[in-house]
Amino acid sequence: MIEILLLICAYLIGSVPTAVWVSKGVFGMDIREYGSGNAGATNTFRVLGPKAGTFVMVVDMLKGVLAVRLAYLAPYYLDPEHLTQLVNLQIGLGLAAVVGHIFPIWANFKGGKGIATLFGLVLAIQPLVALCCVGVFLMILFLTRYVSLSSIIASIAFPILILYIFNEPEIFYRIFAIAVALMVVLTHQKNITRLLKGVESKVPLFKNRKD
Ligand code: G3P
Repeated sequence: MIEILLLICAYLIGSVPTAVWVSKGVFGMDIREYGSGNAGATNTFRVLGPKAGTFVMVVDMLKGVLAVRLAYLAPYYLDPEHLTQLVNLQIGLGLAAVVGHIFPIWANFKGGKGIATLFGLVLAIQPLVALCCVGVFLMILFLTRYVSLSSIIASIAFPILILYIFNEPEIFYRIFAIAVALMVVLTHQKNITRLLKGVESKVPLFKNRKD
């Protein structure tokens, strides 16, 4: 029963629509009507600048971390006999926050694509894997300057890392890792279409490059 309550709390935390509230509260506009239309950190960077974008990215990431930390409230926390149950609960809580981020109850169920919150979730449960994913993300970003493509490839790297490099034995963990990659591909469908058409926007990094 406590698990259900915690999952609802995690969903509500994930539902905090940081980009929407910052854009409406500070800039008097709705981020979902500008740029890519996504209520996430990348579009906030794009439309409202680095300060607002960084703020949204950090808060969205912390939503994932905080949701996982709700597992501290489970009665079997610190009981080694319930370790698997605890890890499964942590993953479930993190995922509930990601679902909240994508379908936020506080913003008409129109939220972001879940990347920052997913990163917070992975950081909280597998920091080393999270750092490897950041490495993949930054490498693709440096090579292509597409945030969306970097997010997609880093998410695909996640199950590969879990299954083949870290060799995680827990079946729930493995399913979760594959589900994450699928979820990110699903939330990035419009980006994939734009990438295929060659019209996806690039981040204005490395401005001296010729491409
Ligand atoms: O994290 C979302 C990013 O991968 C793409 O965002 O605004 O370019 O659709 P956006």
